[in-house]
Amino acid sequence: MRPDVDHRRNERPATGRVFAGLALALVAFLLVACQNTQATQSPPFDPAASDALPTLDAEMIGLGERIYQENCAACHGQRGEGQPNWKVANPDGTYPAPPHTAEGHTWHHGDGLLFQIVKEGGDSLNIPNFKSGMPAFGDKLTDAEIIAVLSYLKSLWPEEQRRIQAQASEQDPFPTLR
Ligand code: HEC
Repeated sequence: MRPDVDHRRNERPATGRVFAGLALALVAFLLVACQNTQATQSPPFDPAASDALPTLDAEMIGLGERIYQENCAACHGQRGEGQPNWKVANPDGTYPAPPHTAEGHTWHHGDGLLFQIVKEGGDSLNIPNFKSGMPAFGDKLTDAEIIAVLSYLKSLWPEEQRRIQAQASEQDPFPTLR
């Protein structure tokens, strides 16, 4: 292939890139549910950009844990371990609840996407031919409570997962902080 052909490919219009980014986010979410070897792969990790690991507020974690036990543990497990065989579809086409630990996929997503999933439910992502088992909590939890429960989930992750997720959140912050 001639070098200038390659070069032109990099000059896609910005809207194309935005769309590609969005599609990637949806695919990443879908991998939660789909049994796909890709799901175990980490997004690119840039150690040079990883110095600032945001500290988690102990009070937020405590509040988040209570909210979690009350609203989430029935599906995602007492300690975020998920349901058994979470990569295998249920007979109705939904999937069991995935783990929120480092074993799972939650830490691959930025704060904005995680917030949307909890507030508006999995179906808010409008993934074609996919029925989500993740309910919307927007009527039940305030935005601050959603951020607290996500702080609790972050407290379950080892430092590397926390760093990767913090990096993803730089491009995709909580909507209330935008
Ligand atoms: C009725 C069962 C159920 C309850 C209750 C539930 N979830 Fe979920 N959740 C799911 C399922 C199933 C998925 C997998 C995605 C899908 O099917 O759309 C999911 C996915 C998620 C994801 C995306 C995970 C990922 O790896 O990308 C997050 C974040 C999440 N849930 C957080 C929560 C939080 C926080 C609560 C409590 C406030 C909660 N869930 C309560 C079933 C549940």
